[in-house]
Amino acid sequence: MKRFGWAALAVLMGLTTAGAAEFGEADRGGDLAQTWCVNCHVVEAAPETASAAQVPTFQALAARDDLTPERFQAVFASPHPGMVGIEPSRQQIADLYAYIQSLKEE
Ligand code: HEC
Repeated sequence: MKRFGWAALAVLMGLTTAGAAEFGEADRGGDLAQTWCVNCHVVEAAPETASAAQVPTFQALAARDDLTPERFQAVFASPHPGMVGIEPSRQQIADLYAYIQSLKEE
């Protein structure tokens, strides 16, 4: 009986991890943001410091209700000004999105 319990737990944990990967992992997204987005955006949880005018901080993006996963993906389908040479995979887009959502203030 006890063995069955552990097996069930292992399966459950496997499912949870798979689910997280599908929707993106904030940790990985944070690394990607530091590589690709930090030149223009403030990517840390620091809404009060803007890097350049007109560029929303990632925390500001997190606060936006209209930034759905679909819209976020569309940003990369037609990259915004200056955002050239950045072609994240679907998984990386999901990771970035998860990272931005993790900055949302409750
Ligand atoms: C060369 C500078 C630059 C880089 C690099 C850059 N951005 Fe931006 N980003 C901007 C500017 C400027 C805007 C505001 C103007 C606009 O939305 O077109 C913006 C706006 C956005 C928006 C809002 C778009 C919308 O539909 O309102 C999102 C989301 C975004 N950036 C995500 C990212 C992510 C994620 C990365 C890294 C993979 C990134 N940006 C890299 C300059 C940049």
